[in-house]
Amino acid sequence: MEENGNELIRLESVYKIFGPQPHGRAFDLVKAGVGKDEVQRQSGHVVGIDNVSFAVPKGEIFVVMGLSGSGKSTVLRTVNKLLEVTSGRVWVDGTNVQTLEGSDLQAFRREKMGMVFQHFALFPHRSVIDNVGYGLKVQGITKEDRDKASMKALSLVGLEPYSRNLPRQLSGGMQQRVGLARALASDPDILLMDEAFSALDPLIRRQMQDELMEIQNEVHKTILFITHDLNEALRIGDRVCIMRDGAVVQIGTPEEILTEPATAYVAEFVQDVDQGRVIECREVMSPPDPIDPSMSPAGALAHIGDRTGAFVCDTKGRPTGLLTAAACTRAADNLAAAVRSDFDTASPETTLNNVYAAAGRGLPIAVVDGDGRLVGNLDPRSIMEEMGRVEQLIDGFERETYL
Ligand SMILES: Nc1ncnc2c1ncn2[C@@H]1O[C@H](COP(=O)(O)OP(=O)(O)OP(=O)(O)O)[C@@H](O)[C@H]1O
Ligand SMILES: [Mg+2]
Repeated sequence: MEENGNELIRLESVYKIFGPQPHGRAFDLVKAGVGKDEVQRQSGHVVGIDNVSFAVPKGEIFVVMGLSGSGKSTVLRTVNKLLEVTSGRVWVDGTNVQTLEGSDLQAFRREKMGMVFQHFALFPHRSVIDNVGYGLKVQGITKEDRDKASMKALSLVGLEPYSRNLPRQLSGGMQQRVGLARALASDPDILLMDEAFSALDPLIRRQMQDELMEIQNEVHKTILFITHDLNEALRIGDRVCIMRDGAVVQIGTPEEILTEPATAYVAEFVQDVDQGRVIECREVMSPPDPIDPSMSPAGALAHIGDRTGAFVCDTKGRPTGLLTAAACTRAADNLAAAVRSDFDTASPETTLNNVYAAAGRGLPIAVVDGDGRLVGNLDPRSIMEEMGRVEQLIDGFERETYL
C-alpha cells in the first residue's frame, strides 16, 4: 500500500492465529494459502484473521462486514490492541499500536478512540450524564468540564433532556445512544463500533443508522464499524470490507460491492439487498439540458433526442415545467400549451429506490440542487435500466454458482 498522510488507520498484512503456538505450523499453513477449516484440522489452531490489509482515511466510515466468525471483531481488536497480532503491522495515526504497552497504550486509546459495542455496559446506578462523562472522570477532568462535554455529546445524539435519568428509564435505542454519546464525549478522532446497532429492532436500528450519519456530518470522525448485516454496511459505509474465514474478500464503495461483486460469495450476499438503495440519482442522471418552449415542435423533438422529455426552466435555472417527447409529437404548433407542471423532483443524493415510484409514472424526474436549480434530468428508463442491471448481474452470478 502507498504511504498516505491522510489515513488514520492502516493494517498491513495482519495475521492473528489463536492457539498455544501461533507462530508454528498453523502460521506456515496459513501463509501457504491453506484455508481456515483445514488449518484448524491440521494444527488445532484457529485462524482469526488471515493477511488483512486496508487503510482508512480520515473522516471515512469504513465498515467491516461478514458472517459470524469471519474475523470482524478480531480486526477491530488489533486496532485498539486488545489483541496482539501474530504478524503484520497496525498503524493508528502514524503510531504502530502493537508496540504500545501499559499506560502508554491506555493513554493512546483514551486520546484517539471511542468505542461502542453491542451491549454497552452502562452503569445502572449512575445518571445518563455521569455515564457519558465516566471516561472523562477517569482522566481526572473536573465535574464541571466533563458535564459540559457530556451535555454536548448528549445533544449530538438528541438526549439532552434525559441527562438526569437512569439508564433503565430509557429504551434500548436510547441506551445505545448514551453509549454513542459516551464514545463521543472525549472527542476522539476514531470511533470503533462493533455490532453497535445489532441488538436493536429493525426500525430503531434504521433510525440509529440515520442518526449516526447525521452526527458524522457534524463531527467528521473516522469510524471503523463492524456489522454482519450487508444492508447496514451498504447504507452507512463510505467503503465496505467484506470478510470470509478471516480473509478480505472485497473492499469497495457500496456501489462497487453491489454492481461489481468480486466473487460469487459477495454476489450471494448482494442478492439480499433491497436494490437501488445505494445508487444515487447523480450517478444515473444526464445533464439538465433544458428546453425553450418557444421552439418549433420539430426543433423541440430534436432537442429532446432520445430522452423521455426535457425541462423548461425560469431565468434562475429552476425547473417550472416539463415537455415530453410524446407531447411534442402531438402538439400542433403551440408547445407552451403542452408543457406540464406535474413533474417530480429529487436531490442528487436521493437514492434510486426513493424515486422508483415516481419513475413508474414514466416521466423524467428533475434533479435539483439546494437552491432548486436544475442539475440533472433523470430519465425513468435510466432508473429501470440501472436497477435491472444489478438484478441481471446477480442472476448471472446465480447461474454461475448454482448451475
Ligand atoms: N480469544 C479467542 N480465542 C480463540 N479463538 C478466538 C478468540 N477470539 C476469536 N476467536 C476465533 O477467531 C475467529 C474470528 O472471530 P471474531 O470474533 O473476530 O469473529 P466475528 O466476525 O467478530 O464474529 P461475530 O459476528 O460472531 O462477532 C473465530 O473463529 C473465533 O472462534
Ligand atoms: Mg464479533
